[in-house]
Parts: sequence; structure tokens; C-alpha cells
Amino acid sequence: MVPRLFQPWADLLLDQVGLNAGEVLLDVACGPGTVSRRAAARLGPSGRVTGCDVSPAMLALARSKPAAGHSAPIDYLECPADALAVPAAAHDVATCQQGLQFFSDRQRGLRQMRRALRPGGRVGIAVWCSIDQSPPFAALAAALGEVAGSQIAAAYRNGPWGLADNGIAAEIERAGFTAVRASRHQLPVTFDGGPRQLLKTLAASGVAAAVAALGDAGQRALAAAIEETAAPLMHDGAICSETAAQLVTATTAS
Ligand SMILES: C[S@@+](CC[C@H](N)C(=O)[O-])C[C@H]1O[C@@H](n2cnc3c(N)ncnc32)[C@H](O)[C@@H]1O
Repeated sequence: MVPRLFQPWADLLLDQVGLNAGEVLLDVACGPGTVSRRAAARLGPSGRVTGCDVSPAMLALARSKPAAGHSAPIDYLECPADALAVPAAAHDVATCQQGLQFFSDRQRGLRQMRRALRPGGRVGIAVWCSIDQSPPFAALAAALGEVAGSQIAAAYRNGPWGLADNGIAAEIERAGFTAVRASRHQLPVTFDGGPRQLLKTLAASGVAAAVAALGDAGQRALAAAIEETAAPLMHDGAICSETAAQLVTATTAS
């Protein structure tokens, strides 16, 4: 999922926020370090990156992945977004790619990012648009609804896609940021392995346990259902489609 989905989005987010060599960047909800590593490569050896996440497993994955040569050094820290264990006013840029929707207290998380930024610092936040704007995952949700029931399908939809277009820019402004700019973007996505490969993404989702509990017969039914729901997206054996996200940039008052 990282090279297929998250890395192209990380590059676009970093283009939007704009980085200068030598800057200090904080990547909140860094997960496997997708944005952290791409940013470190852009900032170069005189820059510095800190990636924060609540999940020790994600941080272990991030630490296991080598950074490109001539990258900024990256520190990974275990801490929640609403209690960032980083110094105040010490970062030029803060990023958060597909993490905001999972915070228990989004205002607190956003205010923590603002606290970590120096005056005039920039923030870049990415949140998926509604699931119907990312057709492969809408197809997966439809198949889940058919086989696992509407509650599990709703839990899937309301996870990564739960924030959708619901006033994120206003929420970021309320957290004290200025010059808030939100824009919708679309990127192509291909699953060369077709519906079966798409199905595997459920293992890293919030409904993984519910899907595992379906048992062998349920898994076979789900595989058959996704063949049908993803059929309109198929080209030469691959799923060829797009995903859509809102990217929001803002600054702290200087
Ligand atoms: C979809 S992943 C995105 C990871 C990464 N930003 C990327 O683009 O690859 C969401 C991440 O948010 C993290 N997360 C969820 N709630 C969090 C919180 N309250 N504080 C910090 N991280 C959180 C999860 O552990 C997970 O690594």
C-alpha cells in the first residue's frame, strides 16, 4: 500500500506545503514513515525530521526502512498526536497524512502541531475525500456490505474516509492557523493483481478482525463479491482507477 497509494500522495502533499533544504519537519501519525522519508530526501543532510505515531508496530516498520542517501536524519518517537513529545516552536513544517481522521481529539492534535511550529511555520494535512471518490475502496465497501453486513461496511467506510469533506479547513482555522487553503486532488491507482490484491488491503484496515472472523466460506464469498463490485474498474486484469483526497495547507502567525 505504501508505494501504490501513500507515497504518491506524500509527494503531492510535500509539493503543496513546499520544503527548503535544511528545514526541520515534524510528521504526525507518521505510520511506516512514508512522508518522513520522502521529506528527509528533499530536506537533505542539513535538515531534520521527527516522525511521531502511537503505534509501536508502525514505528518499528518505519525504523526498518532505509532512508535515501543524502537524506536528513529521521528520529521516530512514540507519542499520541494530542500529547506530542516534541519541543515547542522548534519545527519549520508539520505534516499529517491520513492521520487526522483517527485522532480522538482533533482540535487538541491540531493545537499540538501549532505549538510545535515556530512562528511563520507551515502545516500540510491530507484527508481522504468521501469513499465514493476512491472507487476501488468503494467497491470493497460494497462487497463487505453484501457479505459481512452493513455494520462492518459502515465501520470500514467511517474509518479512513470518515472525515471526508466535513469542514476540515474550518477546524484547522479554529486551532489557530492562518492562510488556510484546502484543495481537492485525484491520483491514479492501479492494483495489478486485480480484485484479489485489493482484497488483501483489508488486512491492514480497522475491520481486519471482523473479516478474519468470516471464516473460509465467508472469505470465498467476499472474494466472489469483490470480483463483481470491482468489475467496472477492470482493464486487462488490473484495477485501474483513482483516489481523491483533500490537502490543506496553513501557517502559524509570524
Ligand atoms: C493510514 S495511517 C497513515 C500513516 C502515514 N501518515 C502514511 O501516510 O503512510 C494512520 C496512522 O495514524 C496513526 N494514529 C492513529 N491515531 C493516532 C493518534 N491519536 N496519534 C498519533 N498517531 C495516530 C496510526 O497508528 C497510523 O500509523
